[in-house]
Amino acid sequence: MAALTYQKLVAKQFSPDFQSAIAVETVPMPVPQAGEILIRNKFAGVNAGFDTLLCQGKLPYVHLELPCDLGVEAVGEVVAIGPGVTDWQVGDAVATMGRGGGYREYQQIPAAVGVKIPAAMPELLTLMPTGISALVALEQAGEMGTGETVLVTAAAGGTGHIAVQLAKLAGNHVIGTCGSAAKAQLLQELGCDRVINYRQEDLQTVLQQEYPQGLNVVFDCVGGQVFDCCLEHLAVRGRLVIVGFISEYANNPERVTQPRIHQHLFWKAASVRAFLMPHYAKHMAAARDRLLALFQSGQLRVVIHPTPFRGIASIPAAVNALLAGQTIGKVVVQLDDSLPLE
Ligand SMILES: NC(=O)c1ccc[n+]([C@@H]2O[C@H](COP(=O)([O-])OP(=O)(O)OC[C@H]3O[C@@H](n4cnc5c(N)ncnc54)[C@H](OP(=O)(O)O)[C@@H]3O)[C@@H](O)[C@H]2O)c1
Repeated sequence: MAALTYQKLVAKQFSPDFQSAIAVETVPMPVPQAGEILIRNKFAGVNAGFDTLLCQGKLPYVHLELPCDLGVEAVGEVVAIGPGVTDWQVGDAVATMGRGGGYREYQQIPAAVGVKIPAAMPELLTLMPTGISALVALEQAGEMGTGETVLVTAAAGGTGHIAVQLAKLAGNHVIGTCGSAAKAQLLQELGCDRVINYRQEDLQTVLQQEYPQGLNVVFDCVGGQVFDCCLEHLAVRGRLVIVGFISEYANNPERVTQPRIHQHLFWKAASVRAFLMPHYAKHMAAARDRLLALFQSGQLRVVIHPTPFRGIASIPAAVNALLAGQTIGKVVVQLDDSLPLE
């Protein structure tokens, strides 16, 4: 018998702590209206940084009214079709990337918003939008060329491990930072030319001793003192791309007033650019197609964190694990009980 209700995660109140901001709700199953499709989500991507800042009410570009649905990207299967929809069939695999569409068992969307994919796999989920962010940030914000020295921080994470491979595929010397031996091993397998496990080596010392010409492109996910160090080591005309600042999400960011950074940048004609996907939306479709082709041809490996988080109630644990640096590759939550454990 078809389910009459389903579960979703909602933010009920703003809180510094994700767990105390959220609640699991059981809601009635919707019927797709004209032009809509109903999707059973199979996997959702966990963006713990975004989730935490959202639940703290600290995302300046999102006007949030509570309660609000959570999660962003999902892959699943079309289970019902509204009147007038001709280009989808029940059983089609679909990817979605709308805010509020991820952390729920079912979602109802305008048919035109879904992206057809070959199968509802976590690997394809990772390419959209995590992989898209890596590609667009490197190429558009970072103006990555070839034969350059590219440093990726949090390089074994969901976003970082794709950035590492794209920088290698473009013919660059790639340095990746990470915080464990297992992550260092992965980065070696992915082709990193220099892996820096910051728990064993000092980033500043390695850059000083081994990269006197500096870094042409930095893809920085971490922020804080890592940002400061990368800024100091930019090459002439180097570009530091702020992709995120995950070391600062869980706490109030340190207020730094001195030294100002213009003198670091001016004499090298270097620059700092910030990357935020919504401001680069026009590049998304082309990036998605290229990533799918790279994955399908075996040139791009997608690594999924091996511990399966299963069900809506497991999402806070997944968020905590990611923010604690305990995960490797992309963190996904499995939402469909009918699937075997990974
Ligand atoms: N701008 C955009 O549009 C956009 C899009 C996607 C993601 N992002 C950003 O990209 C970054 C990575 O996101 P993700 O979801 O792919 O996460 P992730 O990289 O899978 O996980 C986070 C990793 O950050 C590293 N990290 C380093 N210092 C840390 C610290 N002090 N506290 C916690 N973690 C620390 C940890 O790895 P190690 O210890 O191994 O370094 C941890 O595993 C985040 O900053 C996120 O906000 C931005």
